[in-house]
Formats: sequence, C-alpha cells, structure tokens
Amino acid sequence: MTQNVSTAVMQRRHEAPDSLDYFPTPPWGTRALLERADPHMFAGLDQLTVWEPACGEGWMVRPLAERFGRVVGTDCHDYGAGFGVHDFLMPYLPTDLQDGPVHWVITNPPFNAAEQFARRALEIASDGVALLVRSAWLEGVGRYERLFRPHPPTLICQFTERLPMHRGRVDPEGGTATAYVWVVWQKGWKGEPIFTWIPPCRREMERASDYPLVPAAACSPAALTWDPGGGDTMSLFSVSAMGSDGNDRP
Ligand SMILES: C[S@@+](CC[C@H](N)C(=O)[O-])C[C@H]1O[C@@H](n2cnc3c(N)ncnc32)[C@H](O)[C@@H]1O
Repeated sequence: MTQNVSTAVMQRRHEAPDSLDYFPTPPWGTRALLERADPHMFAGLDQLTVWEPACGEGWMVRPLAERFGRVVGTDCHDYGAGFGVHDFLMPYLPTDLQDGPVHWVITNPPFNAAEQFARRALEIASDGVALLVRSAWLEGVGRYERLFRPHPPTLICQFTERLPMHRGRVDPEGGTATAYVWVVWQKGWKGEPIFTWIPPCRREMERASDYPLVPAAACSPAALTWDPGGGDTMSLFSVSAMGSDGNDRP
C-alpha cells in the first residue's frame, strides 16, 4: 500500500513549463539503443550524420560518436561544455547543419516538450528519429491523435533494466522508480509499430570511463569527424558535475 502511494506521487510530479528539464542520460542507455534495440536498423552508421538537439553536457553525444560518422550536439542552454546554443523548436537549422542531410535525430528530449520535439525531429531527419522517453509517454488520447496515429513509430523498445536519471547529474549508483522506452521512427517504414524489449545489457554497455564524462576522442577517435575550428556546433567535452537537488526523474 505504501509503495503504491509512493508510486502515484512519483507519477504526478511534473516539470514547470519553463524548466529546462535537465536529466542527463547515462551513456549505456544510448549504447543499448544502438547495439541492442535493432542491430539491422542501426548498422552502417559511420557515413551518417546524427543531431543530438538537446544535448546538455553531451552525455548522449559521446556514445553516438562511437557509431555515427558525424555528431552535432546543440542545446538551448549553454552548459559550458562547448556545444552550440540552438532552440530545437525554432523553424531553422544551426549553421553547421544547413549544408548537408541530417540523417538521424536522437535525443532524450525535455519532458514538457517531448511531443513538439518528435514533430520537429520528424520534419528534419531523412532516415530516422529516436527519442528516449518515459514509458508512460506512450499513453494519452491527445498525443495518440496528434502524433502516434499520423506518425506511427517503427519500434518501441522498452528497457528491462531501469535507467537511472537524476536532475542535473549522472549517478551510476543511483536508482529510479521510472521506466523508460526508446521510441524510434524509421523514415519510409509502413506498418504497425513493433514492440520489443531491450534485454539486460547494462553490464556490457557500461564502461568505467563513462563517469565522469571524458572527451569522446579518448574513446573513439575515428568517430569524431566534425571540424572543431568552425561553425557554431562544436561538440564534446567534459564539464564538472552540475549542481543537483538529487531528484530522480519523475
Ligand atoms: C532530459 S535533458 C536531456 C539531456 C541530454 N539529451 C542527455 O540525454 O543527456 C533535456 C535537455 O533539453 C534541453 N532543452 C529544453 N528545451 C530545449 C529546446 N527548446 N531546444 C533545445 N534544447 C532544449 C535542456 O536544456 C536539457 O539539456
């Protein structure tokens, strides 16, 4: 009984409309998508460009750089990690992405704007979109009518292990009461969404060097192909841990 009440409280918590909703993603959660969700869909990425448009300090950028040929990270807020500042919901692209295709958009979006992020990402990406969201985000009549019915996802990948996320910090020892899924849209795909589980993989996907965030070049030099001297979307470098109020992501 106590546990049910506690869970209900967790479900009711929500971010203020103007919150940045900064809940960074442990790197293994992104590797789980690329390595375990659907190996065929995420094959041959080394020639492709991915945009992480809400990258915070870059916790998703690094695992993306391990697989994609080019990774561009931006965020509407400057966390001091060297990423370009860009509001993803504005109807234009950052300078570094104006000349070439954006094959994939992959992010953990702010909860209070996840639907808008999905719509904007679907407009931009030529190959696909993957959003890491709370599993509860899948429900809701309005979201179904506005997003899922006109744009059915290709894959819904439920984590079997909990992916702990906390306000303003990554804590490898942390826990969470919240379940997450990857929702993936592959462009051109027709049919009903496929539901799958991401099998337990944290032990394999997690690396000691993930914490604290270190320069991606130290892990995967070949993957980092952007020009660090030009443009407004230079990516990837460590910053000190953000301050935190210790909140688990609601
Ligand atoms: C849940 S956090 C995820 C951070 C990062 N994607 C990760 O997984 O580590 C959401 C991020 O969205 C950013 N954000 C919020 N609104 C945005 C907007 N309109 N455009 C770009 N970024 C935004 C916040 O600053 C925050 O860094």
